[in-house]
Amino acid sequence: MISIKSSREIALMKEAGQYNMATFRELEKHLKVGITTKELDKIAHDFIIKNGCVPSCLGYEGYPASICISINDEVVHGIPSKRKIKNGDIVSIDLVLAYKGYHADATRTYIIGDVSKEVEDLVKNTRLAFFEGVKQVKDGARVKDISIAIEKYAHDHGLSVVEELCGHGIGLEMHEEPDIPNFNDNNNTRLKEGMVIAIEPMLNLGSKEVYVLDDDWTVKTVDGKPSSHYENTVLVTKDGYEILTGDD
Ligand code: MF3
Ligand code: CO
Repeated sequence: MISIKSSREIALMKEAGQYNMATFRELEKHLKVGITTKELDKIAHDFIIKNGCVPSCLGYEGYPASICISINDEVVHGIPSKRKIKNGDIVSIDLVLAYKGYHADATRTYIIGDVSKEVEDLVKNTRLAFFEGVKQVKDGARVKDISIAIEKYAHDHGLSVVEELCGHGIGLEMHEEPDIPNFNDNNNTRLKEGMVIAIEPMLNLGSKEVYVLDDDWTVKTVDGKPSSHYENTVLVTKDGYEILTGDD
């Protein structure tokens, strides 16, 4: 069942989106060489709670932290630890919070200091792939219109698409129907005004193959090459869309 949000629910999801963005602004003040990912997790956790929200990932299927921090060849679901951020890292922060029961989900990948041109382009193009996908969104469009646009943009820019993970509907649950893949799996489901979805391309510089570490969470690229992730929570409207978690 795909949920259609009422105007009251949409207003709450917009507020959740604002709190999500504010948490990123707080994290950005601290995201520097030398800080540990666990310190960033605590900053996010405390800020989310202070704002009367709930960190959705904490305890989700046993996940042990409030946010996911995935560095370089880590694709998603990196667990905050004593690892320090280094010059030349690319750092993805995936942040889901709930306000009055409604979740907002967003991811940003940050370039720390000096990286190669190809890594810089990987990060930029992952963000731009999101915008190619979101441009397809409007009442009556199909899920695969988003998937095809993201996949084409990735391939046109020499990047591969992770297939094991995808975007999703979002609302009272963090993961709702429909799935929003980043490659064409021919999903003809129609989007409807009032749906809210998270669109989240995960693109690799090398091959698309990934595996899960022994910690049962961290997803890494098989070839050890970097991966980038960009995500926003998006409301489907009659003529288009509204991004609830910003476009930075
Ligand atoms: N944005 C991530 C997702 O959609 C959030 C994962 S939270 C975790 O899968 F608890 F599963 F890590
Ligand atoms: Co998500």
